[in-house]
Amino acid sequence: MTVLVTGGAGYIGSHMVLSLLEKNFDVVVLDNFSNSSNTSIRRVSEISGRRCELVAGDIRDKELVKKVLMEYEVSDVLHFAGLKAVGESVEKPIEYYENNVGGTLSLCEAMKEVGVKRLVFSSSATVYGDVEKMPIDEDTPTGNPSNPYGRSKLMVEEILKDLVISDSSWSIALLRYFNPVGAHVSGRIGEDPQGIPNNLVPYIAQVAVGRLDFLSIYGHDYPTKDGTGVRDYIHVSDLVEGHLAAMKKISESPGVGVWNLGTGRGVSVLEMIKAFEKTSGRKIPYRFVNRRKGDVAECWANPSKAESDLSWKAKRNICDMVKDTWNWQVKNPNGYS
Ligand code: NAD
Ligand code: UD1
Repeated sequence: MTVLVTGGAGYIGSHMVLSLLEKNFDVVVLDNFSNSSNTSIRRVSEISGRRCELVAGDIRDKELVKKVLMEYEVSDVLHFAGLKAVGESVEKPIEYYENNVGGTLSLCEAMKEVGVKRLVFSSSATVYGDVEKMPIDEDTPTGNPSNPYGRSKLMVEEILKDLVISDSSWSIALLRYFNPVGAHVSGRIGEDPQGIPNNLVPYIAQVAVGRLDFLSIYGHDYPTKDGTGVRDYIHVSDLVEGHLAAMKKISESPGVGVWNLGTGRGVSVLEMIKAFEKTSGRKIPYRFVNRRKGDVAECWANPSKAESDLSWKAKRNICDMVKDTWNWQVKNPNGYS
């Protein structure tokens, strides 16, 4: 049984590929390296001691995707490929819709033509928009995401639901990630943002290692426990275990399922800084600045549906997340380069 991992050279995809290889799946990665390089996959092969097929190409190239599906006798597709920078999506909406929505349409057409009908899609908690009541469960109506990136995730979810309505032999999992952070325990693969990081944890890691001078905290007047934004950070290794559980589930029952992948715990920006200072032994200088446009005060999951349906639960706590992020950052101060 071969699993196609689109975007498998990226941050989450590379952790997924490692986990699949360790579980004895055969894996083929399709990645256009627009936000990655083949170094991550080389390291994944070194850690696992197993070979992973790597195809350099684009999910929007339907003929290539069909060729890969047939040649490697693919049974399941884990679909991570896409663009993910919120700010950039506001500047370049066409590129985001073209890649994230158009790319998924093209991938599904190829799968349909070849008869591969099991798909796990990387969605995001951003589809809920601004929710008042925490924690967020899957019955919470999807909201109005504040940017093209978020809207592209919502559009793809709707398209995939329609696909299952039209043909009930598809099996699709829509996984709504909360805030993935951390790195593989080896410290050999991890998140390697290009340029200045947008997200909190990679930013703090770069301050701690001395690449950046201080953290700007976006707002300290939110109605939260300490005035700073609260999120549900989830270790990337727990996240990939959630995918394995979802793959198993959809192989047993066709249809479409939606699951939150989060821990159910909310952590504030100040709490994250404190955890990082404790683990790294470094001071994290910070300044309070205005709120970031489009940010919500709080966002954390009710993950109980994933626990009851998939028998999956996040096991790693905030100390594990920070320890593994720091280990990766210290061993690779400049990422993969
Ligand atoms: P990433 O940018 O590290 O990985 C995405 C990979 O897809 C990259 O290797 C990139 O080169 C590749 N890619 C992009 N467009 C492609 C295309 N058209 N054809 C082939 N390859 C292409 O991102 P990530 O953090 O690993 O995220 C993976 C998925 O999870 C994305 O769909 C993202 O939107 C989603 N997601 C991520 C987060 C997060 O915080 N990281 C949160 C929620 C959802
Ligand atoms: C961001 C994305 C969201 C995506 C999610 C996935 C934005 C606006 N939203 O959400 O679409 O689904 O990542 O992980 O980018 N913070 C600071 N200073 C910083 C960076 C962040 O104070 O330099 C704060 C933020 O205000 C927020 C918290 O840290 O309260 C987490 O921010 P971030 O890591 O960017 O994640 P999200 O805002 O949840």
